[in-house]
Parts: sequence; structure tokens; C-alpha cells
Amino acid sequence: MKIVHAASEMFPYVKTGGLADVCGSLFKSLAGVGHEVSFFLPGYRKIIESKEFESAKLKVVLQVELGEQFLRGEVWALTLGRRQTLYIIRRDEFFDRTNLYGTRERDYDDNDRRFIYFSKAVVQAMRLLEIKADILHCHDWQTGLLPLFLRMAEQETGKSLALKTFFSIHNLAFQGLYPRSSFKFTNLPKEFNGIDGLEFYEQISMIKGGIFFADKIMTVSPNYAREILTPEFGCGLEGALKVREEDLVGIANGIDTEVWNPQKDPYLINHYNASDLSGKQDCQETLLKKVGLAKGEGPVYGVVARLTQQKGIDLLLKQMSFFVKNDCRLVLLGKGDPNYEKALKRFAKSYPEHIAVCIVLDEEMSHLVEAGSDFFIMPSIFEPCGLNQMYSQRYGTLPLVSGVGGLKDTVIDIVSDPENGTGFVFEANNDGLAAGLEASLELYGNEKDFVHAIKRAMKRDFSWKRVTTEYESLYLDSI
Ligand code: ADP
Ligand code: GLC
Repeated sequence: MKIVHAASEMFPYVKTGGLADVCGSLFKSLAGVGHEVSFFLPGYRKIIESKEFESAKLKVVLQVELGEQFLRGEVWALTLGRRQTLYIIRRDEFFDRTNLYGTRERDYDDNDRRFIYFSKAVVQAMRLLEIKADILHCHDWQTGLLPLFLRMAEQETGKSLALKTFFSIHNLAFQGLYPRSSFKFTNLPKEFNGIDGLEFYEQISMIKGGIFFADKIMTVSPNYAREILTPEFGCGLEGALKVREEDLVGIANGIDTEVWNPQKDPYLINHYNASDLSGKQDCQETLLKKVGLAKGEGPVYGVVARLTQQKGIDLLLKQMSFFVKNDCRLVLLGKGDPNYEKALKRFAKSYPEHIAVCIVLDEEMSHLVEAGSDFFIMPSIFEPCGLNQMYSQRYGTLPLVSGVGGLKDTVIDIVSDPENGTGFVFEANNDGLAAGLEASLELYGNEKDFVHAIKRAMKRDFSWKRVTTEYESLYLDSI
């Protein structure tokens, strides 16, 4: 198949969260099984200043209609391997910036124009480069309007650009909501400005565009696919999603088992596997030394997360005394809401022997936290899929997760299934997390069971190999 993906981030080029990891893996794995895959990304500063970009070639110049203007753009191509082409849409006014979506204080105020432009540019690039895709697959609100723009262009020119369009929801909480006045940048007929189009509570919603106008809607775990049809998790879009229920599919993400491999992770000095865990102890020493903690009686707990309400940081903040009382260690790596950052730093200052907090985005450190911790805490309030709980299992670090979204699909609870359990699954509230922590402590005290659980977790298969097959058959069934 000829498959085109478009998204606003992709590992290793630009990443703010799991979307990037998933896009990077899908790009690689679909090409790996023989498909011809193209990926469109905005030409952010980080990309155009990268070493790789030096070998990119200018392919075509665009004139993209945005409201009353026609704005120039460039499409650059990088051949990344057999059957893998990365296309970069360059318009420096929009993308040559330090960050992807905004500063620490607020989002860029032209994100509506930036991503409408990007989506239209992808369609024009496909037209000019004569890319006829079997599948066009878009991700999250930034590319929500792309399936609709594509169909409009096909109508106008009478030429097919893609047989089927897919739209993946990685997080329904980010919707791309803008004032009604932004509709003019779409240049769409005005019937799309109503309730059967992009209108959402007196605003326009880019994610709703993807939900209504893509042929298939995907999300990143089967459980989240069910949850988003309910008012509790639907973020106001449960009605729109119900309309498309028949075309909504959830496939749990995989992980890049080459990047996340405790047997040869280049970020770790000591390597290990399920039959020989001694290297994991060394990783723990390195981790503790790095953050200035000494080992206590109890286990080491790790957290790596965007510091947002989604990730259950409020729940975690209520449990800080647990670590002190039980002589445990908590190493938290995260960045995000300044209020959470401040609160966490206050705890680290009050309990310097037990709690270390690193407020930074640091890929290397995230690997060390995964390898060096005994348990990994992820008390999310909602979680479309989540990747860290899978990285944790692969690194023999038992995850403590709330039973929502993809967390429920990917962690087997030790308390209810001691024979097969690979982590702790609890209710997403204070009592739930407290119970999970107590249960983990109990397991830690029973070395035999603890080691068995670690080995089981490490042997689970979260590779993209299996997941790619599911994507492939979904694509094939749709065309
Ligand atoms: P989300 O995309 O909602 O943030 P995921 O669990 O899907 O959640 O993915 C998060 C990704 O971002 C993981 O790869 C995780 O390791 C990474 N990450 C989050 N915070 C940091 C950080 N401070 N430093 C390095 N990596 C981080
Ligand atoms: C989003 C979700 C996360 C998911 C990731 C990749 O960022 O919050 O749960 O794992 O996308 O699909």
C-alpha cells in the first residue's frame, strides 16, 4: 500500500509527548513490512537546523490559500530509508520558532492559521507531487481538517488523492478550539460552519472536523475507544463520536523495542534482561547517585510525565508522606503546569532524603528513571493509551496505574491476578492510589513473588510488530 501520514510531531525529530513516539514507530514499522510510507511534518526550527535536514531536497513550491491571502510555502523531502520519505512543509513565518505550540505561558495566538495552513499545504503537496495514496492517516486536532480539505480538493480537480482517510485521536482533551471568526481561514463553504460541520459550542473545533469527515476514526486503545462515547470521558464530543461509532476503532499503541531495550539501551551503562537482573541494581545506584539520594529500606518509585491534571499529579501530591513514612525513594522527572512544578519542588526541599524532582525534559534521564526504579507510578485521571507503563514493564519496573483508558488494556493487576499480574491497577482516586502503593510495598517485601512479577512484566510483547499487523488489516479492509 501507499500510505501517507501527517502529524504535528514525530520522534526523533520533534517531540512533546507520546504522539511523537507513536508516529515515529508507525512510520518505521509500516515501511518495515513493505509499504511505501510518506510522512508530512511542519518545518519547525528544530528540524530545519538539524544535521539531517542538510541532505533534504526542495521538491516543490506551494501557494496556499488562507482566508484572503495566498501564502507561499516549500515542500522539502528527506529519504530516510527504503520506502520511507519524510516531507517537511516549510513556511518560516509559521514554523521557524523555538517551540512547537507556544511558550510556557501561553499557546501561540496563530495556531489556528498555522495548522490550517499545514493541513492545506499537505493536500496541495500531494496534488503537485502526484502522490496517490491508498491511505491518508492524520493525527490529532492539528491535522483534523485535512481529510475534509482533501475531499474538497478532489471534488474541485476531479482527481483522487487518497482512497480512504483515517483520523487518530491521541487525546480528546486537546481539541483545537478557535473563535468562529477563524473559519474564514479554511475557505470552506459556509455550510461547514454549522453544527453538522466544525461548529462546537459557538467555536470551531478542528478535532470535530476529523471526527466527522474522515472515513475511519481511530484511537489509541480499545478501552479509550469505549470510554470516549460516554460523557465522563467524551469531553463534550461523545455525541459526535456516537454518530461515527461504527467507524471508530481502538488499537493499543506499541512501543519501539529498539529504542526501549534494557539489553542495549545506549543511555544506560549497565544492561540487563529477565534472566539476569543484576544490571538493574547498578542502574538504580546510578539513578540515585545522579539525583542525590541514598537507598533506603523501601523501594524506589519513578514518575516521568507531563505535569498536567491528566496525569493525576493531584493524587500523587496527596501521597507524599507514604514515601517518607516507609523509607522509600521517589524520583520524578517532569515538566508542565508551574503550580505542580512548585508544589513538587517544595516536597523535594522538605524531604531531601526521600524525594528528588527534576523539572526538565530529558530523554536520557527518562530511560534511567525507567531502568533504575522498582515501581513506576502513573495515576492518570484519563489516559488514551500511555506509553510509560509499557516502557516500565519492559524495564522490569512494575507500573502502578489507574484503571482508565489504555492503562487498563496494557497492565495486568497483581492483586486480582497474582499468577499473571505485571503491575497494580487501581481506581483513579486518592484511596485507589494509596491502596496501590500499599500493595506494591507488600510485594516488595516478598522477594520471590516480586522477582517473578518483574520477569513476567519483562517478557510481555508490546512491540509494534503485532500492532502493525492490526493497522495493516484495518487499512486493507477499508480500501
Ligand atoms: P503523553 O503523550 O500523554 O504525555 P505518553 O505516556 O503517551 O503520555 O507519552 C509520554 C512520552 O513523553 C514518553 O515517551 C515519556 O517518556 C516522555 N516524557 C514525558 N515527560 C518527559 C520528561 N520530562 N523528559 C523526558 N521524556 C518525557
Ligand atoms: C496522547 C495520550 C497518551 C498516548 C499518546 C500516544 O498524548 O495522552 O495516552 O499514549 O497520545 O498515542
